[in-house]
Amino acid sequence: MFDTMTMTKAVGAVCGSLLVFLLAGWAASSLYTVGHGGHGGEELAQAYTIDTGEAEGATEVAEEGPDFATLLASADASAGEGVFRKCSACHKMDGTDGVGPHLNGIVDRAKASVAGYSYSEVLAGMASDAWTAENIAAFVENPKKYAPGTKMAFAGLPKAEDRANLVAYLASVP
Ligand code: HEC
Repeated sequence: MFDTMTMTKAVGAVCGSLLVFLLAGWAASSLYTVGHGGHGGEELAQAYTIDTGEAEGATEVAEEGPDFATLLASADASAGEGVFRKCSACHKMDGTDGVGPHLNGIVDRAKASVAGYSYSEVLAGMASDAWTAENIAAFVENPKKYAPGTKMAFAGLPKAEDRANLVAYLASVP
């Protein structure tokens, strides 16, 4: 009887200690893990934020970097024909004028030079200049910015690749 009580106490003490150890160990390791993971995560997140910032800056530079000639050199005229669907509501490539003047041979054509087409003042005022590939790209990127007051009601082509492909297509139609 006495022995059993002692045994029970002893076993109870051991179990209790084990339990305390287990709980303490679990608490410690979970604290350690959370703390570690949190710090690690924050550090990683910061590292990435910094990296992304740099990368974005680099990408922006890269986006402005490859000049239009480089893009044009690898441009795809058949993809450009697809882009031209955005223009075809107003522009034809068969020598006849619609809402806008026909765009046959537009690359290096003198600006505002289609006889009988009534251009806006701003475009008429640019008549001594030519529609180089670069000029067309700049105009279609943001018509209102390139030629404030133009009557070309077109929002613009934001993608440099689209503009290059489009110009390649325009250049392919005499
Ligand atoms: C909503 C009709 C409309 C759309 C869409 C449109 N244009 Fe025009 N475009 C015009 C008009 C109108 C003019 C004459 C602008 C002026 O006189 O100010 C013009 C003028 C131009 C000119 C100058 C032509 C010249 O003889 O000087 C070019 C180049 C041109 N557009 C290219 C494009 C391209 C490329 C697209 C497609 C990405 C496009 N346009 C989309 C209506 C449009």
